[in-house]
Amino acid sequence: MTSPTFALTATTGKLSSSILSHILNSSLLPPSSLILCTSTGSPTHPHLSAAVSRGAQVRRADYDDPASLEAAFAGVDRLILVSTPAIALDFNEAPEGQGRERQHYAALEAARKVGVKHVYYTSLAFACGGKSESKAGVMVAHLRTEARLQQLAREGSIQFTSIREGLYSESWPLYFGHWDLGKDNNGRSEVKVAGDGKITWTALSDVALGTALIATDKDSAKWEGCKVTLAASKGGITLAEMAEMVGKRLGREIKFEVVDKEEHVKYYVNQRGMDEPFVRWWIIVIALSFLVSVVTKIALPLFGENNIIAIAHSSSCVLFSSSSSSADDFRYTRLFKVRSRTTLLWTIQESSSS
Ligand SMILES: NC(=O)c1ccc[n+]([C@@H]2O[C@H](COP(=O)([O-])OP(=O)(O)OC[C@H]3O[C@@H](n4cnc5c(N)ncnc54)[C@H](OP(=O)(O)O)[C@@H]3O)[C@@H](O)[C@H]2O)c1
Repeated sequence: MTSPTFALTATTGKLSSSILSHILNSSLLPPSSLILCTSTGSPTHPHLSAAVSRGAQVRRADYDDPASLEAAFAGVDRLILVSTPAIALDFNEAPEGQGRERQHYAALEAARKVGVKHVYYTSLAFACGGKSESKAGVMVAHLRTEARLQQLAREGSIQFTSIREGLYSESWPLYFGHWDLGKDNNGRSEVKVAGDGKITWTALSDVALGTALIATDKDSAKWEGCKVTLAASKGGITLAEMAEMVGKRLGREIKFEVVDKEEHVKYYVNQRGMDEPFVRWWIIVIALSFLVSVVTKIALPLFGENNIIAIAHSSSCVLFSSSSSSADDFRYTRLFKVRSRTTLLWTIQESSSS
């Protein structure tokens, strides 16, 4: 039987290139069945070379250029659509169709036109258990994209799986008062946030592995219509705890303070010179109500020992399979190495000393 043709978008990026590495290293697919999409179509990027030398094709797929998307997805059976980093599109409460989802819709329309059968969309875990609402501004474009995917599936155009990726351990600086590794390691000693709560940080490589395993599962029907959350199940770390970890690493105290939303905006805009639309968009992510209600109250029970999902579990990493009864009910089936908590500690140590 011939392998289905697979395309991955944004393969020069951290997530997509890690998914690609897992596919290659674990021989999940023959490299010749892979189409690596980048915004330029240049095959010379270092993240692509291993796959290209083994027979993968590179194509140009620019989310802002529908014709390039159609050409890139021609002949593709399964598509891993990685969410766009164009966050500025979301600012100032962009209406539906004008936020980041605009680029995702363009990719989905191209996929529909050329007959892609199954789209695996890399969503975000700021909504759990299949829920379709979230208090996080960063989640809006993902929920809109998921709604579009559901619509396409209802119409019978494309099957989909939404893979809600947990917060990468590697992205801790974003959450830690917009910590700038370049400047802040050398002197900043104060972090203000608009809320705190436990976050189950998850190594990017772990979510990439989970994504690769789901997308390459031979039984793709098992994942149809699923919203799967991939996140560490244990070991949540608060931002206050992170302040201690970073302070210890840097050898100075980091004063950590939870302030109200408006004080937070004033501090980052007036004192730290950041752009207000960005600060306001991101604040919802770190607002107390959000972290506590979404991450602690909702996510942790779901990410608990008998959880429905999760790849990282204390000292082992688990893969799951869907049950036939519920799209969001998954059971562990295999064990893998875990890196999530250690990656967080490691990235704090590494980046704090850079
Ligand atoms: N779960 C989390 O904690 C978390 C954290 C950060 C981000 N995210 C989300 O996950 C996504 C992937 O994260 P990442 O860390 O891999 O991001 P990244 O390393 O910054 O990579 C972004 C990728 O997007 C591609 N891209 C940019 N503009 C494009 C366009 N117009 N058309 C097609 N591709 C375009 C870039 O491709 P080229 O090099 O070809 O331009 C690059 O490969 C992000 O975009 C964001 O939505 C999640």
